[in-house]
Amino acid sequence: MIKYEIKNTKEYHNNYSKAIENPEVFWAEIAKKNFTWIRPWSQVLDWDFSIPKVSWFEGAQLNITENCIDRHIENNGHKTAILFEPNNPKDPSEAITYNDLYKRINRFANVLKSKGIQKGDRVCIYLPMIPELAISVLACARIGAIHSVVFAGFSANALSTRINDCDCKMVITSDGGYRGAKTIDLKSIVDSALLDCTGVESVLVAKRIHSDPPMVSGRDYWLQPLLDDASIECEATVMDAEDPLFILYTSGSTGKPKGMVHTTAGYMVYSAYTFKNIFQYEPNDIYWCTADIGWITGHSYIVYGPLLNGATTLMFEGVPSYPDYGRFWSIVEKHKVSQFYTAPTAIRALAKEGLELVNRYDLSSLKILGTVGEPINEEAWHWYNDHVGKKKCPIVDTWWQTETGGVMISPIPNSFEGKPTFATLPFIGVQPALMDENGIEIEGNSVEGRLCVKFPWPSMARTIWGNHQRYKDTYFSAYDQKYFTGDGALRDENGHYRITGRVDDVIIVSGHNLGTAPIEDAINEHPMVAESAIVGYPHDIKGSALYGFVTLKNSQDLSDALKIEINQLISKQIGPIAKLDKIQFTTGLPKTRSGKIMRRILRKIAIKDTSNLGDISTLLNPEVVETIMKNSL
Ligand code: WTA
Repeated sequence: MIKYEIKNTKEYHNNYSKAIENPEVFWAEIAKKNFTWIRPWSQVLDWDFSIPKVSWFEGAQLNITENCIDRHIENNGHKTAILFEPNNPKDPSEAITYNDLYKRINRFANVLKSKGIQKGDRVCIYLPMIPELAISVLACARIGAIHSVVFAGFSANALSTRINDCDCKMVITSDGGYRGAKTIDLKSIVDSALLDCTGVESVLVAKRIHSDPPMVSGRDYWLQPLLDDASIECEATVMDAEDPLFILYTSGSTGKPKGMVHTTAGYMVYSAYTFKNIFQYEPNDIYWCTADIGWITGHSYIVYGPLLNGATTLMFEGVPSYPDYGRFWSIVEKHKVSQFYTAPTAIRALAKEGLELVNRYDLSSLKILGTVGEPINEEAWHWYNDHVGKKKCPIVDTWWQTETGGVMISPIPNSFEGKPTFATLPFIGVQPALMDENGIEIEGNSVEGRLCVKFPWPSMARTIWGNHQRYKDTYFSAYDQKYFTGDGALRDENGHYRITGRVDDVIIVSGHNLGTAPIEDAINEHPMVAESAIVGYPHDIKGSALYGFVTLKNSQDLSDALKIEINQLISKQIGPIAKLDKIQFTTGLPKTRSGKIMRRILRKIAIKDTSNLGDISTLLNPEVVETIMKNSL
């Protein structure tokens, strides 16, 4: 359990100042007092954003799983580490203690080793939200293998791209998974992905749905018999502070997904410290984050942050709507959840279903509510506050990114209050900056600009796997010596931040980041399509939905069947999460003289705000705008 807690306003301000005035002293103290190190560091921080290079706790050696598990065993071995709630409410939940987890991780780690996995090898994990997902993540970390978890909603193509990008040697999957009333066959998705992946030597398959998928001899192995034969002891591999811990892919505005690389020591220190303070975790609390471990929120705040604090973390396999829209609240009641962390899109979907489903359950165990993934609208914030928190639970609107590894801007309960739609103040050590179009930092309050961070924090991603230049170009080139987030933000009269949304070509749909380029690439693969452009438009539940403008090679071909085919192609290339809600066939797309599609105009058409389209005289083909407007959906 983290010491040096932030319990009131004064402590927040004192610690914030300390961490800004002398970051190395501050973080060294947190690191020393709260974790087990095999060897201490020789240098706390070394950085230069112009390269960019960032290293924390250089020279130190450790293993993160010793910090997540081993050190809790002596006093808290019987405490529940992972509380698993299955998809079907009639099935029993499972309490995995720290003692159990220790054994299960070690067994799994020994299986990895027996299949030839060594320190530094990449292992792709493609699993539903079952305990094996958290356990395999930690088993990789136990032996220094780099885990690359791919959300199990991604298609075979998306999976093979990610497997090949970082040369995974192994894939860990299951026969399938349950999501609400649906049963999903994962093994066949892996099989088709692997047709394109020559580097994968073995596939470990967990049993969940008891199907009988074909197994490729010499490549595919049922997991359980291997675990049964493995020892419960596995020495933790000694890791250097800056050894990669994991790769996690995130969408970019261009083509290929970016494999963000997170390293060991800094990520450990920051994910643990933020978890403790933002959720004000106390030893008997039951903490629940509804994210999937396939996303960064699940990595940092289902697995690592909670376990580093010796917490009980609830893992839910299912969906909020099964067997009905009261499921989340029934789980809160059943397990007496103290902290509940979810996404605005879930809150909006649940709010729509009416209060009876909320009021049916006893939510009095709740102390703190959290939200993440996209800006939360005022209505959803109030609904959450009034009906879930009963006006007595602080709401932490946490702003952060896959790239940042941990929460960057958020209320800290008991220190200062949240305010609807505001992520409020930077976390300890975080130095945000707002920039104008000329690259000048905007000082003072009541201002708006592009959100950057001007000083390193321990859990920032260190590079993009295999492409450091892209890391530099994407995050460190827009503004000198600053990390650019891709988000816009405003700072109010009290210095509180409100995130206004992406300023690049990333659209957040139901909390998932989707780059426009990969979706357009998928559509353009259709033989009848000449070109396409995707924009976002506001959607009641998803936050944003996708609107596609598609030009066909032959305008005679347009049909509803073609729209379905286009969405099928997107599902195949990326996954169902990237499907378009609206598809409009166009005779051409508005372009600049240099041939760039003017998405600005399409965005306005999609939101039906066409009174002022701005200057379209510079367009190569201004005449198409009129037609697109006339036919807009
Ligand atoms: C958006 C999720 C407003 C933002 C942890 C960011 C938010 C992107 C918030 C990262 C929030 C996340 N308020 N916007 N509280 N949290 N975002 O990588 O645009 O999946 O850049 O990480 O989500 O999404 P990612």
